[in-house]
Amino acid sequence: MRFSRRTDWNTESTPLARALAERRGLPVLDLTVSNPTRCGIRYPGDLLQPLASSASLDYDPDPRGQLRAREAIAAYYARRNVALDPARIILTTGTSEAYSFLFRLLCDPGDEILVPAPGYPLFDYLADAESVRLVMTPLVYDHGWQLDLAALESAITPRTRAVILVHPNNPTGHFTSQAESDALFEICRRHGLSLIVDEVFLDYPLEAVDAADADSFLARPAPVPVFVVSGISKILGLPQMKLAWLAVAETTPAAVIEHSTAEAAAEAALDRLEVLADTFLSVGTPVQVALPAWLAHAAAIQGQILARVQGNLAALDAAIAAQPVSLVSRLRTQAGWYAILRIPVLRPDEETALLLLRRGLLIHPGSFFSMPSSGWLVVSLLTPPDEFAAGVGLLLSAIAEQAQ
Ligand SMILES: Cc1ncc(COP(=O)(O)O)c(C=O)c1O
Repeated sequence: MRFSRRTDWNTESTPLARALAERRGLPVLDLTVSNPTRCGIRYPGDLLQPLASSASLDYDPDPRGQLRAREAIAAYYARRNVALDPARIILTTGTSEAYSFLFRLLCDPGDEILVPAPGYPLFDYLADAESVRLVMTPLVYDHGWQLDLAALESAITPRTRAVILVHPNNPTGHFTSQAESDALFEICRRHGLSLIVDEVFLDYPLEAVDAADADSFLARPAPVPVFVVSGISKILGLPQMKLAWLAVAETTPAAVIEHSTAEAAAEAALDRLEVLADTFLSVGTPVQVALPAWLAHAAAIQGQILARVQGNLAALDAAIAAQPVSLVSRLRTQAGWYAILRIPVLRPDEETALLLLRRGLLIHPGSFFSMPSSGWLVVSLLTPPDEFAAGVGLLLSAIAEQAQ
């Protein structure tokens, strides 16, 4: 049998995954927790009730998704003071599906998309599956993270079709500021690029940030097509329900010369996306029926997750401040569920992670998020607080021992 080149993947598990499997049930303090359904978040008791609605017995497919579900998403944005026409929303089964629709919309095989690094390793397989080439562009850290716009622009080639932004980024927790997005819009306009903005962590700020910098891109009219993706796996802590969306942002007001072109492009994009969505009709009816009731629980679920990540961040800072010798520090983060730690550069971080696992601590090396190979670990702030405190304690003492 011959396989396609696009699926020519190395499917061997990583040394860390193998070492974890070999522990077979030995206790592990897990600082990589990313599944909100497995970390003690209490979901409202009646959460599943809307799934039993008899409305779900009727199959009335709409390629963009049921209007009531899209109106509920528009209402979610209205609570953030963002006006979004439900006609500009397309439902998908996850943000991954939203990305794959957008890659198919924008790229022919071999075309390129720019992706900021560090970042969550979400796009590699998605891009391969659509025969799209990802090109990393660096985020730089200097008292806080920022886009290296000069590096980004110099990575653009005639095959570049779009720029992905994760806002706020995972794991750096960096919000794209208004000034950065203005500069980026201008670069995209000059080179005819679209912007794909992933806002799954938008509701989880960790630091006071200027409201305009923490705004959705749906509130930042641009002279180029901007596609915002989000979903309930993070907004409601419900990844198992498989419901996400992409929204086509409004373009800049009519006074701007490019408006008509950009708006025409956005409308043509919506028509094509509708055909893509119609080809799969992948989102189940019951979750669409349930979405309006679920979004009404957003504050209760987000409140718990936010309290968890903020509490763990404070505990992490206290433990770092209490080190007898300051070996581990934390990078600034503005939002999200992760924190990046700077550790002494003694060996590759993957080796450090293996050594820590032998002592019963699971942690991501920075390289998992495309960071340099030595000096960085990433911790999940979603971990239950007792496990988090014990894990951080073990981490700091192990690093101190290794540095001796
Ligand atoms: C930035 C980012 N976007 C999207 C996702 C996945 O979202 P979904 O479950 O909707 O596919 C993740 C998962 O951690 C993520 O980090």
